[in-house]
Amino acid sequence: MTRGYSDLQEKRWLKDPSMSQTSTIALSFPEADVAFLTLDMPGKGANILASSVLDELEQQLDELEKRDDLAGLVIISGKPGMFIAGADLREFAASLDIERDQTVKMCRRGQQLFGRLSKASFVTVAAIDGICVGGGAELAIWCDRRVMSNGSKTEFGFPEVKIGLYPGWGGTVRTPRIVGLSNAVEMITSGNSVSPREAYAMGLASNVVSPEQLPAESIALIRQEQASQQFVSDRKQWSLPLDINETEMGFLGITAQAVIRQQTKGQYPAPMAALEVMMEAAGCDAETACQMEADGMSHLFGSSVNASLINIFFLNDRIKKDTGIENDSVVPRTIDSVGVIGSGIMGAGIAAANVKRKVPVVIMDAAQDALAKGVQNVMQEVSFNRETRSNDVDRAVELAPFLNIGSTDAEIANCGVIIEAIVENPEVKKKLFARLEPQMREDAILASNTSTIPITELAKGLKRPEQFCGIHFFNPVRKMKLVEVIRGELTTDETVATAVAHAKRIGKLPIVVNDGPGFLVNRLLLPYMNEAVTLLSEGASIKEIERAAKAFGMPMGPITLYDMVGLDTAVYAGKTMVEAFPDRVPVSPVVPALVKAGRLGQKSGAGFFSYNNRKRRAEPDPSVDEVLAPYINGNREFTQEEITSRLFLPMLLEATRTLEEKIVRDARDADFGLIFGIGFPPFKGGLLFWADTIGAANLVEQLKPIESIGERYKPTPLLLELAKDNRKFYDV
Ligand code: NAI
Repeated sequence: MTRGYSDLQEKRWLKDPSMSQTSTIALSFPEADVAFLTLDMPGKGANILASSVLDELEQQLDELEKRDDLAGLVIISGKPGMFIAGADLREFAASLDIERDQTVKMCRRGQQLFGRLSKASFVTVAAIDGICVGGGAELAIWCDRRVMSNGSKTEFGFPEVKIGLYPGWGGTVRTPRIVGLSNAVEMITSGNSVSPREAYAMGLASNVVSPEQLPAESIALIRQEQASQQFVSDRKQWSLPLDINETEMGFLGITAQAVIRQQTKGQYPAPMAALEVMMEAAGCDAETACQMEADGMSHLFGSSVNASLINIFFLNDRIKKDTGIENDSVVPRTIDSVGVIGSGIMGAGIAAANVKRKVPVVIMDAAQDALAKGVQNVMQEVSFNRETRSNDVDRAVELAPFLNIGSTDAEIANCGVIIEAIVENPEVKKKLFARLEPQMREDAILASNTSTIPITELAKGLKRPEQFCGIHFFNPVRKMKLVEVIRGELTTDETVATAVAHAKRIGKLPIVVNDGPGFLVNRLLLPYMNEAVTLLSEGASIKEIERAAKAFGMPMGPITLYDMVGLDTAVYAGKTMVEAFPDRVPVSPVVPALVKAGRLGQKSGAGFFSYNNRKRRAEPDPSVDEVLAPYINGNREFTQEEITSRLFLPMLLEATRTLEEKIVRDARDADFGLIFGIGFPPFKGGLLFWADTIGAANLVEQLKPIESIGERYKPTPLLLELAKDNRKFYDV
């Protein structure tokens, strides 16, 4: 027997005892000459190809290959709706520092192990019901044939590019040979899965049947293959170079490159590397192609983008599992209905998010015309069919009963949770609460969607402040998955857990934060946006600022963001932050001057940019210079590096303060909030993750030349402490 997978990396891979000690793969013989290997990882919802599972597979194949009486082998899962969810990312994460030749070895071993499924003396079939992705898809693609179930969870894909890799256990070699280069390029470089129907159409699946029929159909396929011997000629064919002409290759290469460049903006190397290795290896035999795949993988595995994207996978996983509270004995309540007060931009979005998940909603607004418009917006959104890109009457009819219009308080007072999304004015909000709370059900939760007003402040005067919290959605609600659940001083665990569970039920990803000005996301966004206008005053141009932010990886520059948010809103939010942190938020006259000139941003047709063109695209507007002229005090040259430091270091220092003040429970929450709330570049892994890659001591050094600018550039006690002890934010 060859050396075991668990020995790989000199035992540096993390090992989960529950995985290594109990077996995952069971061997059975439903017919004398047909073996079944059934994967069912004990105690887990998913089958993962941990190194211990690969060891098991190796041992099983050692035994099966000794037999000369087998007609076929079927690899199947014992978990309904789950074939294999991929490799073990915890093991990957623990091995990111391995040398390149170790990565090559790791790939070669996987290819050789799975490759045995394409060389055995019997027919091999993957019987796929449910999720079959990543390493699981590679195992399946090395089999002679794949039968798929038509179950709703069945999908087949290579999502490796989403963690900065490409399939390295033969996926880039086998897929083009089986489904054609064009299909393989599309699947592997996009990371998107295909449905059983698509898999069948491209020849990836031999058959699509019901989940119950999978075992019998797989055996029937083995009999058919043994009779026709088609699998023998396919094996030969798939070991050779691809049969594709140069013109086709050239066209495919150019179009795929253009798509990848546009999508990755050069910041994510894996899709391009996948394309290159598939194009270069197309003219080689499969064995040479495998070697090329492994060599190429050694440049991706362990890279900073790979490490960052794996971190994001874990951040996501953590939030999905997070109940929002420490106390396991507190059970969240199930919300039976949601009341939404205020049917403006946010209220309509919140109502639609609930209606889409068939949660009954009662919506109210003080203004009749606003209510009518809000209801129309909700219905338009919930009935929108993304596939046809049009409104779907059947959906509208199906979902309309879940949206109710409240004309009196009594109609809304019976809801399990009431979310307030009215004007951002504490007095108006408090007046509404004082009127509504006495009429509400005793068990109901009252929540505010406020973006800036402290929750503890709004709770003053409430009879049940323990049942009050912030549920802060982001704009546009339809697109933004992040929700901040804000715990006021008196908010109970039950309220928090219920808000978290409900946010998840409607498809959101909630982080729990403690109360404070701007909560988490706006508190960190403000220093960055404020610094952009301070830089303008010092003489940096709009173009330079935008370029630096985008080069850092932000989806848009801070100046464009001002126009999107609305300059009047930004002034209001800015005031809250100046009042809260006067020593480190410099008051800039730039944005108020634009507001005074009637330039409110996109919504008014002009802000820093002009939107008065046919497509309402941002266009530079020379007349803005006149408005800004009195406030530009400098004209010195800025390097891009300097602008980047000026924009992002105050944001980072503010994040360290949210850790010090326990606004966030963990650095990971802050990173998650910024990635999903403002589009902080995923390839940097998160703000504090990025800071950890630079190192606290280096950051203190970087701050030295700019510390004199003001308080906002002074290292915080936490940063200094980490620098002294050589520790990371992720260890705090
Ligand atoms: P909006 O101006 O679009 O809508 C507010 C609605 O509330 C209006 O239709 C108004 O008629 C209604 N209203 C005002 N006072 C009322 C009262 N006493 N009773 C019933 N209805 C009343 O405002 P938007 O943008 O939807 O904001 C609502 C809340 O959400 C604010 O607290 C805001 O800070 C917050 N928020 C806004 C975000 C944004 O990007 N617009 C993002 C996240 C939070």
